[in-house]
Amino acid sequence: MNGTTILRGQVLGFARSPFDGDPEGAARVDEAVAIAGGRILATGSAEALARAHPGAEIVDHGDKVILAGFVDAHAHYPQTAIIASWGKRLIDWLNSYTFPEEMRFADPAYAGTIAARYLDLTAAHGTTTVCSYCTIHPESVEALFSEAQRRGQRIVAGKTCMDRDTAPEGLRDTAQSAYDDSRALIGRWHGVDRLNYAITPRFSPTSTPEQLEALGSLWAEHSDCLMQTHLSEQTDEIEWVLGLYPQARDYLDTYEAYGLLGERGLYGHAIHLEPRERDRLRETGAALVHCPTSNTFIGSGLFDMNGLMAEGQRIGLATDTGGGSSFSMLRTMAAAYEIGQLRGRPLHAAELLWLATAGSAAALHMGDRIGNIAHGMEADLVVLDLASTPAIAQRTARAETLWEALFATIMMGDDRAIAEVRIAGRKAV
Ligand code: GUN
Ligand code: ZN
Repeated sequence: MNGTTILRGQVLGFARSPFDGDPEGAARVDEAVAIAGGRILATGSAEALARAHPGAEIVDHGDKVILAGFVDAHAHYPQTAIIASWGKRLIDWLNSYTFPEEMRFADPAYAGTIAARYLDLTAAHGTTTVCSYCTIHPESVEALFSEAQRRGQRIVAGKTCMDRDTAPEGLRDTAQSAYDDSRALIGRWHGVDRLNYAITPRFSPTSTPEQLEALGSLWAEHSDCLMQTHLSEQTDEIEWVLGLYPQARDYLDTYEAYGLLGERGLYGHAIHLEPRERDRLRETGAALVHCPTSNTFIGSGLFDMNGLMAEGQRIGLATDTGGGSSFSMLRTMAAAYEIGQLRGRPLHAAELLWLATAGSAAALHMGDRIGNIAHGMEADLVVLDLASTPAIAQRTARAETLWEALFATIMMGDDRAIAEVRIAGRKAV
């Protein structure tokens, strides 16, 4: 044993985006991948890797598929316990289910319990990186970062900021405290081990212009941080925003006016966009994050994947738990496929898998470290069983290509399809 492990299976990586030309031509399939010290050393034939790394531990996954761990580019870990709450649209859903639950995170012990539960659940579903909102409580950020640090996991998170009376008493900060607390958390956690901070104004209706301005200044001072927020999720939300910000040209302008539009910005949902908003998002290179199970579950609308990709937007994929109805990026890919169908553009399995790995990693500006299998990348891996249930196994048996089999697991698979997960090379599941 020399610390090197060779995983055998069908090792799937991407040489380019499958949205740029023939989707299948974007992928590479190798027989094996060698990892050591938390990184990927090489991919290639099992024989060549074994020769290059004598003494390596060899793990044979047969015909299972080995790919980069899933990257969930927008989630709310504090909503873990209220996922799948019935019958409300966005604003009522926030007031009825979300805000009361988020108040509980004033208790650091509760925050710690849910942070650990959330990272257990997401890992069991093959997700190795999340970009999560926390609550207004700095303790909720401490809880998630400490738990992820213990697991050696790469995550992005930030303290949610809300200072307007549209948010309930007990779940409000101020412009100054949001700035101060976020700044202190950046100092404590940003760039430590595999942890990165995202400045996190929840969305413009729960912030005052003063708070957005303060967070815009903070972002200018820490421009290597990501900034995450919500944009144009539901039509009555947009009307609300324009009522609260009467001088704004559109929803995006409420961020743009305060320095909250930029390349490292992540805009969740982004469904009902005006032409000017699309232009500005593309010009700045900001990322749009598609949250398909949430968009159907809360009744928000159908994201224009085809049009937005064609015009060159940067796009990631996400669960948006607990607005989303699943922790699974497989289920999330299936929902993205279904929404594509409703918009007349069925996404290829290669496109779906790319969105859930390299696409989301690029949205987080981490495409050089995670989201793909290539030399030097971090060894966050998932091993997919393409016959994880009798229903899927009989479909896979009929499949003529790897893509056909992968598509069945995307559409029908869940955590039973996750045979193994490695975080920085170490087995997590
Ligand atoms: N908009 C503002 N906050 C939230 C949230 O927690 N979930 C969703 N889906 N949309 C939001
Ligand atoms: Zn969200």
